[in-house]
Amino acid sequence: MSDDSSRRHLVLVGLMGAGKTTVGAACATRLVRPFVDTDDIVQANTGMSVSDVFALEGEAGFRELERRAVSDACATPTPAVIACGGGAVLDGGNRRRLRRSGFVVWLQAPPATLMARVRDGPERPLLRGRGTATLERLAVVRAAAYEAAADARVDTEGRTVPDVVEAVLRVYPR
Ligand code: S3P
Repeated sequence: MSDDSSRRHLVLVGLMGAGKTTVGAACATRLVRPFVDTDDIVQANTGMSVSDVFALEGEAGFRELERRAVSDACATPTPAVIACGGGAVLDGGNRRRLRRSGFVVWLQAPPATLMARVRDGPERPLLRGRGTATLERLAVVRAAAYEAAADARVDTEGRTVPDVVEAVLRVYPR
C-alpha cells in the first residue's frame, strides 16, 4: 500500500448525475487545488465531445481514451481534485491507478435522482432515449466496481452542493 504522500489527489467516482463535476469543482475551490475531469481531458485530447467520441469510436474507443485521461489526471504534478467519468472505474487498471494516487470518494444517489440531475447536463450517450431503468441497471452492474474503487462513500440524496462538499471534505484525510 502506498503512503499518504503518494495518495495525494481527491478522486470522485459514481454514476452519471452523482455530482462529481459540480462537487469536485467546489471541493477544488475549497482546497485551493486544480480541478480535473476525465471527460474534459478526453475532449481536450481528441478535440471532440464525449458524444462525438462515442458516435465515431464506439464505447470501446471511448474507454481507451478514458484510460489515457485517467492516467493524465493522476499524473497532475500537484495535489488535485479529480472527477472521473461514471464508467472509469469499470477498468481494473484505472481503479488501481486511482487508488494508488488518490483518496477515492463514491458519490451516491438513487437512480431517479440521478436521472433528474442529468436531464439538464451535457448529453450522456449511454442514456440517450432511455429512462431511469437504465440507471437502475447500471447501478446494479457497476456496484462492485465502485465498491472496489472507493475508500469512502457519501450520500448526496436531498443534500445541497455545499452540504455534500462538507461531507466529502470530512471523510478526506489530509
Ligand atoms: C459515462 C459517464 C459520463 C461520460 C460518458 C460515459 C458512464 O461521465 O464519461 O458519457 O459510462 O457512466 P459523467 O459520469 O460525468 O456523466
